[in-house]
Amino acid sequence: RGTNLSDLGELVEVREGLARLLVPDLSKYARGRHVEPRWAPVFYNPRATLSRHLDVLALLAHVRAGERLSLVCDLLSATGVRGLRYLLESRVGEAVLNDADPRACKLMAVNAALNGLEGRAEVLNMEANVLLSQRAARGPKFDAIDIDPFGAPISFIDAALKAVRNRGLLLITATDLAPLMGAKEAACVRKYSARPMRCPFSRELAVRILLGYVCRQAARYELAIEPLLSYSLSHLVRVHVRVARGAARADESLSNLGLAYYCARCGYRSLERGYPLPRPAAECPRCSSRLSVAGPLWVGPIWDPEFVRRLECAYEEASYLHSAALSSMISQLRSESETPPLYYTVEELSKLLGTSEPSPRALVEALRAEGFAACRTHFDPKGLRTSADLDTLIYLARLSA
Ligand SMILES: C[S@@+](CC[C@H](N)C(=O)[O-])C[C@H]1O[C@@H](n2cnc3c(N)ncnc32)[C@H](O)[C@@H]1O
Repeated sequence: RGTNLSDLGELVEVREGLARLLVPDLSKYARGRHVEPRWAPVFYNPRATLSRHLDVLALLAHVRAGERLSLVCDLLSATGVRGLRYLLESRVGEAVLNDADPRACKLMAVNAALNGLEGRAEVLNMEANVLLSQRAARGPKFDAIDIDPFGAPISFIDAALKAVRNRGLLLITATDLAPLMGAKEAACVRKYSARPMRCPFSRELAVRILLGYVCRQAARYELAIEPLLSYSLSHLVRVHVRVARGAARADESLSNLGLAYYCARCGYRSLERGYPLPRPAAECPRCSSRLSVAGPLWVGPIWDPEFVRRLECAYEEASYLHSAALSSMISQLRSESETPPLYYTVEELSKLLGTSEPSPRALVEALRAEGFAACRTHFDPKGLRTSADLDTLIYLARLSA
């Protein structure tokens, strides 16, 4: 405890996964009872640990499947935690750890040495887009690029698409949930060129807007995206996509764009495929009220069920990471990857019914007993997905309330 590396302030040693890390002692930056990781000289957020566990396992699942991950870029690395964990735990070959802040680079180098990884981790102190543009022009391109910014990732997507190899991976975080979930609609239109929606399933729409944005950016360079994994945790959404070359593939990828509809009066919701966008429907087909519309967004699958199963296998073998939270997250993701889009919440069902909230667990069981696909969703503790139509769902919710 208490090691002082001059301009880095007070540091403490933590263990995350198999990595030992020196990170800022966040208690030294508290204002009253509140502390923001951004207030420390170098960023480290313990609340994002679950997200890093998932990403470590995802890359391990790729390596286990024989995928080439010899060179991975942790583009906005801060303490180096992601890149170092990919080296130690996902068994990728080499990692570039990059950050524009020289203090972060100093800490990454210390952390690489602490884990005996100096030989496989290259620390760079570059503006992210400069690094990506250099690699796009002169190579070597990256097998995977992790983009984990403050706020929106949009300023890095273009260059990352060009700096990743054909069939390589982009792992992208967005923490600007207010625009993406519709609380700041104008900001979402400005940044993502898409209209968001405040509705019971707006976290899923946030993922779909982010994927839609990446898909449209990629298509301009005749690149296609294939979503493998998507999730949301308290303050972020995260997507893993494969990027593949080819005009026909890019067109196919664009065919997964479209619109989302929601009727606040009766709870109807749907996705409509079509790009260029179709003329939006105005009227709810169920109750004739005015529909809310969001998009353009990704209306195709946001998970590859086969990949999520491989992620689950990687988790089962990584016993050092076993925890109730991670286990529940991964098993929910697996069920969700096999169940229809656009979840419902028991909160909205109780409002529609004018009754108390049914238990989501009991409602899922009731739906399954009737032969429908149904599962809880990690997007919302009160949420569930089902293949049942809304009338059946309401009927069963009334019985369960
Ligand atoms: C959210 S933090 C990264 C957190 C880290 N990936 C983790 O898991 O702990 C974002 C980092 O990006 C760096 N950064 C911001 N803009 C940058 C840019 N244009 N080029 C390079 N680094 C940048 C910041 O210095 C900061 O360390």
